[in-house]
Amino acid sequence: MDHKILIVDDDPQQRRYLSAILSSLGYGVATASGGIAAVERLGAARQHGISLALLDLHMPDLDGIKVLEQVRAGGASLPVLVLTSDGSIARAVDAMRAGASDFIVKPVAPERLDVSIRNALAISSLSREVQRLSRQADNRLSFDDLISVSPAIRSAIALARRVARSDIPVLIEGESGTGKEVFARAIHGTSERAGAAFVAVNCGALPVALVESILFGHEKGAFTGAIERHRGKFQEASGGTLFLDEIGELPLEAQVKLLRAIQTGEVDPVGGSGPVKVDIRLISATNRDLQAMIAEGRFREDLYYRIGVFPLALPPLRERREDLPGLARMFLARSTAAEGMAIDNFSTAAMEAISRGSWPGNVRQLQSTIQRAVILADGPVIRPQDLNGIETAGNAPGALLCAAPGRAGVPAVRAPENSGENADPFLTGDGHIRRLLDIETEAISRALTLYRGRMAETARRLGIGRSTLYRKIDDLQLDRHGG
Ligand SMILES: Nc1ncnc2c1ncn2[C@@H]1O[C@H](COP(=O)(O)OP(=O)(O)OP(=O)(O)O)[C@@H](O)[C@H]1O
Ligand SMILES: [Mg+2]
Repeated sequence: MDHKILIVDDDPQQRRYLSAILSSLGYGVATASGGIAAVERLGAARQHGISLALLDLHMPDLDGIKVLEQVRAGGASLPVLVLTSDGSIARAVDAMRAGASDFIVKPVAPERLDVSIRNALAISSLSREVQRLSRQADNRLSFDDLISVSPAIRSAIALARRVARSDIPVLIEGESGTGKEVFARAIHGTSERAGAAFVAVNCGALPVALVESILFGHEKGAFTGAIERHRGKFQEASGGTLFLDEIGELPLEAQVKLLRAIQTGEVDPVGGSGPVKVDIRLISATNRDLQAMIAEGRFREDLYYRIGVFPLALPPLRERREDLPGLARMFLARSTAAEGMAIDNFSTAAMEAISRGSWPGNVRQLQSTIQRAVILADGPVIRPQDLNGIETAGNAPGALLCAAPGRAGVPAVRAPENSGENADPFLTGDGHIRRLLDIETEAISRALTLYRGRMAETARRLGIGRSTLYRKIDDLQLDRHGG
């Protein structure tokens, strides 16, 4: 429900007509009045949050097919639906060849547009998912595969990209389910070691007696049960990246041996004939407070300084709510593909419930909630009742705002990002109430768009008389067609 669609058409009337249809279908709308403007806008579609474009073929400054060719040449992969008044097969073929997802002949019927948009968005999210999975299988996952809308996750990614280029050990710290492993994979996939092995070890699941042989390997017959030679995780990861997950769980005795291996760049397989050189990039992760563990004598300080050269903190999901809709849609695409279900969206109420959740289990909890919802849903849309067990922080609408002490001890309510979709419509960016006049202007113009300029219905829905509506449109200098 939060997709933004770019309308590219040189005809203002057509732009207004399409805007009205798209708004009534629940999409966000942006417009470009010509081909050149469209190329600029679509070149950076990701930054502008645009998920699909409606492109007119006949435009005086730059023809739609040229726009499409340039946009595709620039690497943008978003779906583009082409509109034309001339239904010639040749043009359709040209447009599809240039990378259009579908072809619609004007005048556009809202139902036809709705179906084409839904299909194009569903296919595009599936193909992104397929690409992501194949890159992950290749150990080439990149940060572009991650959802990164919030400033908090963007700055974590910026840091991670920078450190990815070197071989410096990274320590990823974050609550459970914040994306520690996926970050480790993206660092590997962005580094020069991309494509080489990425070996993950869950230190919390290593049986104490076997820690050494699992990490460093053993020779056949080195101990009872060692029926085969085993290279160990360090050697398996050699040339690539070793990911030590939940490193805080490693027993002290094993910490000493790990430290030695890191210091010398060698491992000593159990029962082997001597040390073996390894070439690894080390990434560790923890959801524990290692500093506190050091103070309690449960984690070695010297090991901490080795593994924690570059600490990277991943913020919990409740501190980056802007990522929620994108993550939710990604998990929906993933789960529907896995279950073979035809569910293509969240109801507005369901998306609101997701946005208000406190998500103590972070991204992983969101993922499992949506997997379950896909199985529970019995229609094409996920409804709030399909989303079991979402906990909300505090009272409902206030959950999106955080209280900050105001001047002179007066508590002020502050919306940290009052521009995202969770923004309080009554507050300005700096947390103050908006002028009544502005709120009224916006309400009327939204209503005009929603009811496609039908004055009687617009007035009735707003609860005012028709003549009052006309007067307000004049006073506020609004466009009768909205937008
Ligand atoms: N920013 C993101 N964009 C896309 N997917 C994400 C993002 N963050 C996390 N995920 C996905 O969420 C799930 C949980 O992430 P991950 O396993 O990396 O978390 P974790 O911190 O290692 O969790 P745990 O503490 O439970 O081991 C994974 O399926 C991962 O792919
Ligand atoms: Mg993990």
